Amino acid sequence: MKNAVVIGLQWGDEGKGKIIDYLAADFNAIVRFNGGSNAGHTVKAGREKHIFHILPSGALRGKQLYLGSGVVLDPDSLRKELEAENARVKVDYRCSLVTPFEKWLDRRLEESRGGSAIGTTGRGIGPAYATRMLRVAPRVADLIQGKQPDYTSLTSIIAGAEIPTPEWAKSARDILEPIAADVPAELMEIDTKGDGILFEGAQGALLDLDYGTYPFVTSSHTIASYVGVGAGFSVNMVDSVIGVAKAYQTRVGAGPFPTELGGAFAEDLRTRGDEFGSTTGRPRRVGWLDLVSLKYSVSLNEPKKLSLIITKADVLSGMKELKVAVAYSFEGSETTDFTRLISCGNAQPVYEDLEPLPAADWGMIAKQGWDAMPIELKKFVDFVENYLRVEVSAVSVGPEREMIIERRRRVISY
Ligand code: IMP
Ligand code: MG
Repeated sequence: MKNAVVIGLQWGDEGKGKIIDYLAADFNAIVRFNGGSNAGHTVKAGREKHIFHILPSGALRGKQLYLGSGVVLDPDSLRKELEAENARVKVDYRCSLVTPFEKWLDRRLEESRGGSAIGTTGRGIGPAYATRMLRVAPRVADLIQGKQPDYTSLTSIIAGAEIPTPEWAKSARDILEPIAADVPAELMEIDTKGDGILFEGAQGALLDLDYGTYPFVTSSHTIASYVGVGAGFSVNMVDSVIGVAKAYQTRVGAGPFPTELGGAFAEDLRTRGDEFGSTTGRPRRVGWLDLVSLKYSVSLNEPKKLSLIITKADVLSGMKELKVAVAYSFEGSETTDFTRLISCGNAQPVYEDLEPLPAADWGMIAKQGWDAMPIELKKFVDFVENYLRVEVSAVSVGPEREMIIERRRRVISY
């Protein structure tokens, strides 16, 4: 059995939840290795819609779930999800915690940024990675040893900070003690047995702390190689990377977005795609697919092992236009280098007009398979493949589990 990692290639919300749920059937363990409860992974199973913030989206498949050390773990959020789902999860002893202190600090920092706020999810993510780096964060292992979280080195200089009480620590310990584990050791054992592991990336490559559009990024690493750190599992032993990208582009929160659309057209796209944040409910900013940034994301995510899944193609169907950005223009000169955007700011997209996708019965097409796809969608796929030089292995055309069209029988067998 092979190991795989699913990575978002845009600014998050590419539809990874659905893809993980779909693939999970083929794996024995599902592992989160980055981020925390800022994630909002949506899975639609039958009539039910589940949104996972901290549990891996494979939860509905009854698989063994893990949270690797790269995750910042909010015990209150985990408790809520464990009450709602009958899931088997283990958390690494090394995960540092998100306590009331980190959430308090996240809110205060955003307030203090005023008009230049990042637009965080308010889940304490930045402060949780910061307290980890400052080496004052409590970890799962500390709680189990009965240590009370102690932030006095920081709170002595921050007046009025909310800090975890002994009652908070006790209830966090109650939930974590029975499920704490040495995750790298368990993953190694699973791999040695020949069982498959699926790693679930949170957010997207363009929100990576180092490689994204800093400072409008999340505070963890969102690229495939972070499996090595965030789960303690060698990336060399990950056989395939499944990059997920929407057929268009969205962003929730502030930061550059060259292909962003405004006005009634954007409104229409937002409504068609139900583009509202699953963690915060905020309307997402929407725009055309940006192949310049997508190529950059591919290059950061083990391109030799990567295949692409395009999601939400159905959302564009029946729209009058279909554009994709193929370059940026900066003050009259054109470039396909995404890093220019990071270093220079204001880019104008250079678009290629493609044939619009017709209205179609996507349920029927999904049943019939790849060959039944409208020619316009095939051309779109060809265009994306030629630009990126990677293979598109599946196209998702609706939120339900069965609304996925695989090019061949199993995506991960590439
Ligand atoms: P933070 O991760 O809460 O610190 O937020 C930093 C930035 O990342 C903000 O723009 C958030 O909207 C964005 N972000 C964080 N998590 C997600 C996610 O799961 N999907 C989409 N955007 C996210
Ligand atoms: Mg999301």
